[in-house]
Amino acid sequence: MAASAPTPAGPQDLPERTDVKGVQAAYHDWEAASYDDKFGISWDPHVTDYAADRFRRGLGDRPVPGRVLELGAGTGFFAVNLVKAGLLDGDLVCSDLSPGMLEVCARNAAANDVAITTQVADAEDLPFPDGSFDVVVGHAVLHHLPVPGLAIREAFRVLRPGGVLLVAGEPTYWGERVTTIVKRATWRAFRAVTAVPALEHLRRVDGPADDVDAALAALEHEVDLHTFHPDEVERMASVAGFTDVTVATEELVANWWGWGIRTVEGSMRADAVGTRWAMTAFRGYRALTRLDEAVLAHVVPRGLFYNLVLSARRPTAPPD
Ligand SMILES: C[S@@+](CC[C@H](N)C(=O)[O-])C[C@H]1O[C@@H](n2cnc3c(N)ncnc32)[C@H](O)[C@@H]1O
Repeated sequence: MAASAPTPAGPQDLPERTDVKGVQAAYHDWEAASYDDKFGISWDPHVTDYAADRFRRGLGDRPVPGRVLELGAGTGFFAVNLVKAGLLDGDLVCSDLSPGMLEVCARNAAANDVAITTQVADAEDLPFPDGSFDVVVGHAVLHHLPVPGLAIREAFRVLRPGGVLLVAGEPTYWGERVTTIVKRATWRAFRAVTAVPALEHLRRVDGPADDVDAALAALEHEVDLHTFHPDEVERMASVAGFTDVTVATEELVANWWGWGIRTVEGSMRADAVGTRWAMTAFRGYRALTRLDEAVLAHVVPRGLFYNLVLSARRPTAPPD
């Protein structure tokens, strides 16, 4: 079980910027309490379906039995929802560098009657024996690691021969660049619209609680370390020894919509974001996902889509 995350008493307790993993842990400990709200994580059927779709894209429709390790589990969005969807059913170990995230993860799993064990662990140096899992999953974690290929090698090591790896939600190089333009444009448009006196009240006015809060919030700009070209991730998995390696990409205009919505939510007074807003955001996302899948996936190069999904298998026998 994870130990509690210590709360920094003052700026002297914050990690040096050069302590890359200390920065990750401190930022995510700080973010843990608001993480689910920020990213719309819940245990409603549409969020469970979202996680299940990522799984199907990588591993197909059939549930994968056996013992599961999640890397960088955060508050449990991915694996806990996959258990709820019936796609994973073995013992589940949710691991993360941040004890604060794992505390929320344990609460979320308990509230959903999903049995998990939590373990503070660095995905690049896993504290588990060789061959001890049937499945390793991760979502939005590789891009936080200094050397993502190391985590893929570690996943290979802790998987039994024949075990499978699934990593989703990693940003592509071009997808991230285009999305940054969308986020900036949305923010500017929001500021321009809410400069009108009748709409000024929509702007969020709350700031950081104190200097430590402000310093932790600022670490947001330090924690996203990578974006990926799909071929590069394929190579990392092949070099680690995996077989049946596939890298799919997804979310083009749906992703612009999603980040646009999040940008507005982040700038808007919290009580102005109501159920109607949430439903419109969700319906828009669904409609644009259909457009991405039915049309754009056939005509737009895969590297422009925002998220990639890696799936791979540890071979049952070593190569000759
Ligand atoms: C963007 S969050 C994703 C959380 C969750 N998987 C999700 O999709 O909601 C990234 C997570 O990776 C964790 N993380 C960062 N560096 C890590 C490392 N070296 N080993 C394990 N987890 C790490 C963070 O603490 C954080 O919980």
